[in-house]
Amino acid sequence: MKTFAILTSGGDSPGMNCAIRAFVRTLIFNGHKALGIRKGYEGLIQNKFIELSASSVGNIMQRGGTILQSSRSEEFKKKEFREIAIKNLKDQGVDGLVVIGGDGSFKGAYKLWEEFNFPVIGIPGTIDNDISGTEYTIGHNTAVETAIQAVDKIRDTAFSHDRVFLIEVMGRNSASIAIKTALCSGAENVILPHQEIDYDEIADSVKRGIQRGKKGSIFIVAEGAREGRSYDIQVKLRDDYQIQSRVCILGHIQRGGSPSPKDRLIASEMGHKSALALLEFTQPLITAVHSGKVIEVNFSDAIHKNNDEDHDYLHIIKTLSI
Ligand code: F6P
Repeated sequence: MKTFAILTSGGDSPGMNCAIRAFVRTLIFNGHKALGIRKGYEGLIQNKFIELSASSVGNIMQRGGTILQSSRSEEFKKKEFREIAIKNLKDQGVDGLVVIGGDGSFKGAYKLWEEFNFPVIGIPGTIDNDISGTEYTIGHNTAVETAIQAVDKIRDTAFSHDRVFLIEVMGRNSASIAIKTALCSGAENVILPHQEIDYDEIADSVKRGIQRGKKGSIFIVAEGAREGRSYDIQVKLRDDYQIQSRVCILGHIQRGGSPSPKDRLIASEMGHKSALALLEFTQPLITAVHSGKVIEVNFSDAIHKNNDEDHDYLHIIKTLSI
């Protein structure tokens, strides 16, 4: 009988619990033992292991967040703390580790392999959908759905008052949520995370809309480097173009909530395959979506950000918002 552990790291995302459940039950089904590590790498350094039984992961599929909790660990970036982490894993008799998280979490996991030859498998989990090597990361679909529902509601009030709204969605470096939300909610335009803002274009599209009899305009703003950048845009539109607008920052509601069927399905398959990948371990892998199917790819393919996926939609958004 072997022992494998799992942790969730970075920003939580809906569907992480489905992956934990599938990982634990696949191991137990095959006669092995599963441990959970609380609070991501922080908990790994602090030796926060718990045994996960089949029933301990019951009734969690529908829950957002992560039952193991998460952290963004600065300490784990330093080798001295990774040495403590490895000692803890070995003391607990752990034969391999699954990390659910984004590119930063994967970089940390890959260090465990490079420095200590410790078996690691990654499951991409972030609402941002911005990891290289996979078409999809767990939680993205639910987050986009949440954002679209919110924009639909704001559109009702925008229409009723002929208002311009700047709706800010998550994505520090990733435009995926913003682009999909803009296209699916019929927004006038989308402002990307690090894009230089073309205020003339925004003003033109508001004026064009008014001439065409549009009742209200919606601009989706990706948060970029700093949450709240929409307020700067609002001031500029007011002062330089005499356009009044309202700001709504959707914030962390996009990270919570019950996972969509797509997230449950992909997370369950990834959790299942991550356990099997540890049982047959030869090299570090991540579970990834390619052409719609869950497969395994080399870990080193997945430790970078990928922000280009949805940029093809930009032209459609512009065309449809005439
Ligand atoms: O996990 C990804 C993400 O939700 C980004 O979309 C967002 O920019 C960031 O995390 C917010 O992080 P925090 O919750 O640590 O402020």
